[in-house]
Amino acid sequence: MKYFTINKLNQKSDVNYHILGMFSGKKLIKNIDDTAIQNNIKESLNNKEITGALGEYQIFHGNSKKNKLVLFGLGSKQDFDPISLQKSLTYVIKSLIKTNATSICLEVDNLVLQGKEPAIKNIIIAIETALYKYKKNKTSNLSKLNTCYLKTADKSVSAKFKETVKISTSISNGINKAKDLGNTPPNICTPTYLSDQAKQLQKKYRSLNVEILDEKKMESLKMGSLLSVSRGSKEPAKLVTIKYLPIKNKKPIILVGKGITFDTGGISIKPSGAMDEMKFDMSGAAAVLGTLQACAEMKIKTNVIGILACAENMPSSSATRPGDVVKSMEGISIEILNTDAEGRLVLCDALTYAKKFNPRYMIDLATLTGACLVALGKYPSGLFSNDQKLADLLKNSGDKTGDRVWQLPLYKEYFDELKTNFADIQNIGGRYGGAITAAAFLAKFTEGQKWAHLDIAGTAWDTGPNKGSTGRPVQLLTDFLLSNQ
Ligand code: BES
Ligand code: MN
Ligand code: ZN
Repeated sequence: MKYFTINKLNQKSDVNYHILGMFSGKKLIKNIDDTAIQNNIKESLNNKEITGALGEYQIFHGNSKKNKLVLFGLGSKQDFDPISLQKSLTYVIKSLIKTNATSICLEVDNLVLQGKEPAIKNIIIAIETALYKYKKNKTSNLSKLNTCYLKTADKSVSAKFKETVKISTSISNGINKAKDLGNTPPNICTPTYLSDQAKQLQKKYRSLNVEILDEKKMESLKMGSLLSVSRGSKEPAKLVTIKYLPIKNKKPIILVGKGITFDTGGISIKPSGAMDEMKFDMSGAAAVLGTLQACAEMKIKTNVIGILACAENMPSSSATRPGDVVKSMEGISIEILNTDAEGRLVLCDALTYAKKFNPRYMIDLATLTGACLVALGKYPSGLFSNDQKLADLLKNSGDKTGDRVWQLPLYKEYFDELKTNFADIQNIGGRYGGAITAAAFLAKFTEGQKWAHLDIAGTAWDTGPNKGSTGRPVQLLTDFLLSNQ
């Protein structure tokens, strides 16, 4: 979609739909020139056909065929936040995709929360991600929408507008890339597929440099923990490093993603219900790749390194057993009591490997625990950190973008649950607080680093009729990187 700013919509401009948000219980502030439209709106409001509730929208026809007006509900004004903005726009855009419309004009000024620019950014990202559709294996009609005018009375917007559009579309493309990877079926999206995707990214963006470690190389680096996960699968594990280092002599921010392309649980096999959703267990890696694509596309001036820890977790006669002890690259021995707690096993070696790049911050993202879903539900990602400043920065980016996180504690008692008679640590804790004991396991491998862990088990994909990857937390991460250049 192409974006332009305008100050007024003149009679000649050929726009199929003029879109205006309305809050519930509030009067429409706008004066609408077309008297027929104005009368229709009055009638609709009187009849409570439209009230401004979140998710509502209605199309109004006027005297001319041009410039039909669309009212869409924003919910209550007090509750308005980046999430209501995103939801309300998604509804109206998804409905207009189905029409023959090619151009729309959106009134921006009543959608602003904290400054025009962040609002425009959130608006463009909401529109671009609403336009997303998974296309492989499905014949679908492409939307004809190609032009969007963002109408605002504020003339100062236009100076920075081009840059804002560039950044917002790059972020959207990164989100949609992560969605595509997540949605790709697990017979296609294997560890090798993910490493090929990284290679392709390097071809497209000369500023990216990709390195792929195969199992042999990982063995020589003594990554016994990561390799224990792929042992039951015929698909070899891959450790993919994507470097984006535009600035000389500056420590990079390192993003590490869990890339389990399918998680059966291994010998500690999962129940069969909804097991297909374990194709999304590589969503952390997908978000890292999407974020690095966005960095390269918007030419951000920060050093970033992405690491994808990719493996498939399968049961077989060569698979790791409960009770097996393996040695991590860190030198810490691990008793594997549950082969379904595999995410932490690939991440710990990837985190150790990451340290050699001398990070400013290390952030890992992982669909790590069902317990995180139990604790927080599906709305925020779980946040854990050994550095409160880093945690606060991530929290702030989450609130700004609507890609929210909520922090959980790492008290020392949780670490005691990882003790065992047979190795330095075991890979599971007790019955309760599973999201935290998983994070505590990772914390053992990041001592002395400024590290944060995002458990995206509840946020990386939607279930039900809208089943599919959400592309989270690419928007959070790109905002964090842009805010900390
Ligand atoms: N990938 C799963 C976590 C998961 C489960 C994410 C359901 C989203 C929905 C992870 O590898 C896993 O199986 N974790 C176990 C850990 C347990 C064995 C300690 C879990 O959460 O049950
Ligand atoms: Mn598992
Ligand atoms: Zn898993």
